[in-house]
Amino acid sequence: MEKFIIDGGRRLEGEVEISGSKNACLPIMAATLLASGKHLIHKVPKLGDVYTMIKILRVVGAKVEFEGNTLSIDTTEVNNSKVPYEVVSKMRASFLVTGALVGRLGEAHVSRPGGCAIGPRPIDEHLHGFEMLGVKIKEEHGYINAYRNSLKGTEIHLNEQSVTATENILLVSVTTKGETHIINGAREPHISELINFLNLAGANIEIENDIIIVHETSNSLHSLEYEISTDYIEAGTLMIGTAITGGNVNLIGAKWEDSIALITNLQEMGIEVEKTNNGVRVKTNGKYNACSIKTAPYPGFPTDIQPQLTSLLALADGTSVVTETMFEQRFNHIPELIRMGAQVTTDGRSVVINGVDELSGAQVMASDIRGGVAIVLAGLAAKGKTEISRIYHIDRGYEGIETKLESLGANIKRV
Ligand code: EPU
Repeated sequence: MEKFIIDGGRRLEGEVEISGSKNACLPIMAATLLASGKHLIHKVPKLGDVYTMIKILRVVGAKVEFEGNTLSIDTTEVNNSKVPYEVVSKMRASFLVTGALVGRLGEAHVSRPGGCAIGPRPIDEHLHGFEMLGVKIKEEHGYINAYRNSLKGTEIHLNEQSVTATENILLVSVTTKGETHIINGAREPHISELINFLNLAGANIEIENDIIIVHETSNSLHSLEYEISTDYIEAGTLMIGTAITGGNVNLIGAKWEDSIALITNLQEMGIEVEKTNNGVRVKTNGKYNACSIKTAPYPGFPTDIQPQLTSLLALADGTSVVTETMFEQRFNHIPELIRMGAQVTTDGRSVVINGVDELSGAQVMASDIRGGVAIVLAGLAAKGKTEISRIYHIDRGYEGIETKLESLGANIKRV
């Protein structure tokens, strides 16, 4: 099994290009199933999760080629509506294929999804949305069997602002008669991106007063060429990596508005963040103050950047409180941080972090994508050697992370 070995204590300096967004790419890959023909998707990150979605697209009959960062997806012969446990259990986003297959083939038989161990990941909001649109659901032997009846646009209110439930509902409702209103839908940048992709493919979706409105269109969707925008979670991770090492890095392609919650907090901590002509620069001398945050759906503080921020706060001046509102087990990395010398106590959904002067390298393990990368960031700042096992979690969400960090001056090796 591969490991990262980091010799910490080096400042990150220079510039680095941000990759395409994982969480935009996965629903767009599923959405290609709705339109028969050959799609070309550029700036696709080479990630474990993207390879899993490629497997799923092939299982249902699409022809997929991946060259450089361009995916070519030919959906002309899509004909299989069954997606087995072996692929769906690897990644939660696999379940997005359900909405797309109902839209394209009229039925889907998809195993209940698996994914990162960050707490219970229910799918009740997905099923509620499907049923409201007229999809019949029958669950048997661990599979969700979904059948298109007479689909009709309607008003769907989500109790939880679920990202993938909003995406799944969008995938069905673009093929539905009448108008659908999604109330309390998620509004993360990757939702806007899926809407943009669907509109370019011929759908008619707009957002008015925070309600997502899917208008009926007479034409069927068509295939297209599209470029995925940059990943604000990778950008946020590298912003924190720069700050924790007292560095100075220009993040090429990072979008200020997508990272506004993190940027505001970094600035309040005394870390310099500025717009550049091609991205965002973070600059600090390594001294910064504590801060307290609570995760929330966009535009609140992203749960996907919370673990990385706790690493930064472990070295802040003062005491911080971090509250996780979305996923019960998103503090799996905290015992590893403590192993490296962090002073953290857990109190239900919150952790209290007393900043220390230094962390020390240790043998630790990655528990999930974001918790894993949080430990990498701590290792970059720690004194001495940090050895991180189970890095396959990190590879699910970060394209060539060690290459990017090395190019900025870090001493990190994959062994
Ligand atoms: N929820 C329900 N019922 C549902 C669905 C969700 O109660 O049917 C609750 C969840 O328990 C959670 C909250 O709603 O408390 C939000 O979960 P959500 O459904 O939005 O999460 P997701 O769609 O499964 C996506 C991202 C995650 C990210 C979350 C929150 C993708 C492919 N995944 O997951 O990304 O943490 O939204 O923003 O977009 C990651 O990239 O590392 C990652 C885990």
